[in-house]
Amino acid sequence: MRPGFAPDTDDATAIHLVESAGIEEWTSSPEFSAAWTRGNDFGGELGQILILPDSNGAISGVLAGWGSRESRAAGRFHFADILGKLPKGVYKIAGEIPPGERDEIALAALLGQYRFDRYKKRASSERAGLVAPSGIDAARIESIAAAEFLTRDLINTPASDMGPGELEAKFIDLAGEFGARVEVVRDSGPLREDFPLIHAVGRASDRKPRLLDLAWGRKNDPSVALVGKGVCFDTGGLNVKTGGSMRLMKKDMGGAAAAMGLAQMIMANGLPVNLRLLVPAVENSVSAGAFRPGDILNSRKGVTVEIANTDAEGRLVLADAIALADESEPDLIISMATLTGAARVALGPDIAPYYTRSDSLAACLEKASVSASDPVWRMPLWAPYEKMIEPEVADLANAAETGFAGSVTAALFLARFSTRAKRFLHFDIFGWQPSSAPGRPKGGVGQAARAVFSALPELLSK
Ligand code: BES
Ligand code: MN
Ligand code: ZN
Repeated sequence: MRPGFAPDTDDATAIHLVESAGIEEWTSSPEFSAAWTRGNDFGGELGQILILPDSNGAISGVLAGWGSRESRAAGRFHFADILGKLPKGVYKIAGEIPPGERDEIALAALLGQYRFDRYKKRASSERAGLVAPSGIDAARIESIAAAEFLTRDLINTPASDMGPGELEAKFIDLAGEFGARVEVVRDSGPLREDFPLIHAVGRASDRKPRLLDLAWGRKNDPSVALVGKGVCFDTGGLNVKTGGSMRLMKKDMGGAAAAMGLAQMIMANGLPVNLRLLVPAVENSVSAGAFRPGDILNSRKGVTVEIANTDAEGRLVLADAIALADESEPDLIISMATLTGAARVALGPDIAPYYTRSDSLAACLEKASVSASDPVWRMPLWAPYEKMIEPEVADLANAAETGFAGSVTAALFLARFSTRAKRFLHFDIFGWQPSSAPGRPKGGVGQAARAVFSALPELLSK
C-alpha cells in the first residue's frame, strides 16, 4: 500500500483546527451555530471532533480540537487520530496552518493510513483522505511516508516469511526501483573468508547468512554508508533467550528496515549523496553447528573477538559490515540496529539513543530530530568503558562481564570497526510501537531515518 494525499476537489469537506483558547471566536462567529458547538460540549480540546451539519443534515464541515501548544507537545502526529475519527470521504484543512506544523500535520495524515493486513482475511475498510495542505512539498512527504511503510512492513512480517532470503529479495526490489547496483555475498566459502563474523552468527540456521550491498549515486558527491542490522530472528543462539525476551525478535532486522527506508528516501528525493547500503542478513539460530560462548573469532578487520555471549550477535554482524564500509573511507558511516535491551531501559520505545564523536553532527541531528518529529538523543562513547570490552585472551569481547552501560559498550564495540571514515554515527533503536499511538499502530515502527534524512543536507555541507 502506498500512502498518498487525495486529489484536490471542490467537494472536499473543510476541517477547521480549533485551539481551546480560540473557541470563543468560533462560538461567536455567525457562520457556525453557537448552539450546536456549545450543546455538543465542543471546547477545542486536542482530538475532539464536531461534525457541522447543513440545513439538510449533510456534513458541511468539521471542527477539530487542536488543544494548545503544550497539549500538542505531549505527543506527535495528533492529526492522524483526528482524521481517523472522521467518516470516510475527502477532507481539506481550512485556513492557514502555522508553517512550523504543516509538515507534521501532513505526514500524520499519511502515517495514519498504515495497515498491516497481509495476514487478515478481511482487508480494512476505506478511511478519510486529506487533500495536500497548501505550502507543503507533497511529493517529499509522500516519499517519507512510503519509506516508513516499507520499514513497518519489513518489521511486521514474521520471520517465517522474512528470513535472510526474503530480506534479500526486498533489498533487490529496492535497488531495482531506483536503478541502484546490488551485490550479494551468499556463498559460504567467500562469506567465511571475507566476513567471518557474519558467517559465524548465521551458520547455524538452514536459511543461509549473507551480506547485501547496494550502491547508488555519483562518485563525486559526499559518500554515506548506511549499515543496518538484519537479524531476521534472534533466538539468542546457544545463550538462548527465554520466551518473553524472544517473543518480539522478528523485529531484530529493524535496523536494516530503518536503513532501507532511509535509503529509499534518499534515492526517491535524489539527494546528492554517493550512497552505500549494507545489510548483514542472518538468523541467530540454535543447532549443533552454532558458534559458542568462549569461541574466539577472527573478523574482517583482523581484530579477534571472544564470544562472551552468543546473544550479543548484532554487534558481530555489524562489525564486519562496518569494516567493509570503512575500507572506502566514506565521509559518514551510519549504523542502525536493534542492538541492546539496555537502550530501551534507558530511553524507552519512543526515543532512539545515538552515538557519535562529532559534535557538529550531533548539533545537526538535534535540530533535525525536532523538525522531523523523530526523537533521538545523544549518548556518550565513554572512553573509560573501553576496558569493559577488552578480555584477556582476545582483542575484543562481544559483551562486557557486568551489565553496566550495555548500550554504551555495544556502541564502543562498533566504533572500533570504523577507523578510516570521517565520521561515525550509530543508532540503538527499538523499532517497535508497544501500544498504538497517533499515526503509529502497535507493531513495527521506523526510528531515526527521518531525523537523518532531514539532517543530511546540512550535515554533509560541513
Ligand atoms: N536484539 C537484541 C537486543 C534487543 C532486545 C533489542 C530487546 C530490543 C529489544 C540483542 O541481540 C541482544 O540480545 N542483546 C543483548 C546483549 C547482551 C547479551 C550483552 C541484550 O541487550 O540483552
Ligand atoms: Mn541477541
Ligand atoms: Zn539481536
